[in-house]
Amino acid sequence: MARKAYDLSKSYTMLERAEQVVPGGVYGVRSVRFAVYGKYPQFIREGRGSRLIDVDGNEYVDYISAFGSILLGYRHPRVEGAVREQAERGNAFSFPSDRWLELAERLVERVDVADWVVFGKNGSDVTDYALRLVRAYTGRKTILVGAGAYHTFQPWGVPLPVGVPEAWRSHVDDFRFGDVDSLEQVFARHRGDVAGVMVSPFKHDAFHDQEIPSRTYTDALREICDREGALLVLDDIRAGFRCHPTGLSHLAFGYQPDVICYGKAIGNGHPISVLVGTEALREAASRLYFSATHFFSAEPMAAALATITAFDDEKAFAHMSQAGKALCAGLEERANAAGFRVRITGPPTMPFLRFEDDPQFELARKWCGEMALRGVLVHPVHNWFVSAAISDDDLVRSLDVAEECFALTRADRA
Ligand SMILES: Cc1ncc(COP(=O)(O)O)c(C=O)c1O
Repeated sequence: MARKAYDLSKSYTMLERAEQVVPGGVYGVRSVRFAVYGKYPQFIREGRGSRLIDVDGNEYVDYISAFGSILLGYRHPRVEGAVREQAERGNAFSFPSDRWLELAERLVERVDVADWVVFGKNGSDVTDYALRLVRAYTGRKTILVGAGAYHTFQPWGVPLPVGVPEAWRSHVDDFRFGDVDSLEQVFARHRGDVAGVMVSPFKHDAFHDQEIPSRTYTDALREICDREGALLVLDDIRAGFRCHPTGLSHLAFGYQPDVICYGKAIGNGHPISVLVGTEALREAASRLYFSATHFFSAEPMAAALATITAFDDEKAFAHMSQAGKALCAGLEERANAAGFRVRITGPPTMPFLRFEDDPQFELARKWCGEMALRGVLVHPVHNWFVSAAISDDDLVRSLDVAEECFALTRADRA
């Protein structure tokens, strides 16, 4: 029997209220403009494991996972237990907490590239730090990034540069991800002035098929950086803990970076980001100013320690990979059965589904919107995140709903 679409009336009444008190209402990637108006919940009351419950009381299996910051599931008992324990002792202090040092030591021990580490709150804190670090170390200005890649909401990389003077975006140039010739060309354009290259481990730009890099490309990146005296920065903020059993994506794809940025998943929903670097960069790092009121909060440090421990103990990567593979295979099968050709790209833990012959993402928005209205959250233009909390029951439900929604999308097209 066909499922009844959810009632979202409270969510959308609240969205109207939000529009009165916040310019444009809900902004950024959570904005309805980025997904599908009228079909997605707008306000969430509660998260639990793989599920979200919205303000109307509807329940969802969630593959958006707070845009990647949920790795082990919402309110993971070990992570929340560690946070509560820390909260008993306090969060913000006049000096760093013991957790700060414990986490720094844990990461230096765990990440082969890491001889030292610094902590921020959001990914953008540490990608900005990385830019200043490679410039301080090399005395050069130019930074190269993959065209279309997202690394920050700060002026140098914000995708919508409203209110940003041109000069604040200078000294950043781009090349095509995975394309060694394009990289060589852009190096040639800035010969002698490239401080560093910043790349994501695989291409995961919104609105595009995802691309896994070849070894030729990852090796060439290192060789060209060495030849040109530039540093290699890996932005593992979105993909970290999702591409390799250790959580370290550079090991999955063969990168040899000088600096790695982590964020999102590492705190399982608690605000913390991390930058690690090699010994050669220690002196330059010690010269940078990097301080903000909440950078030292202890609770997110406790969350990160517990997240890493639980990730290992619970073999989270193996579970996420298995669940992701089953999800992708099941979706492809049901899409084909409904007469759609789809492309599912990226690692199974971070899949992205695109309908073929759907350049404006109309089919994607229709299908994803119907999925949301029936309790499964997937995104039409941004990659998804399969958390370690996804169960066999979640998969069965997701694929049943998907089948129904492919049929609805088909009927709508007919
Ligand atoms: C690859 C990548 N780098 C950097 C960032 C910026 O992180 P944040 O939004 O936490 O500042 C993001 C955020 O989506 C990201 O996906």
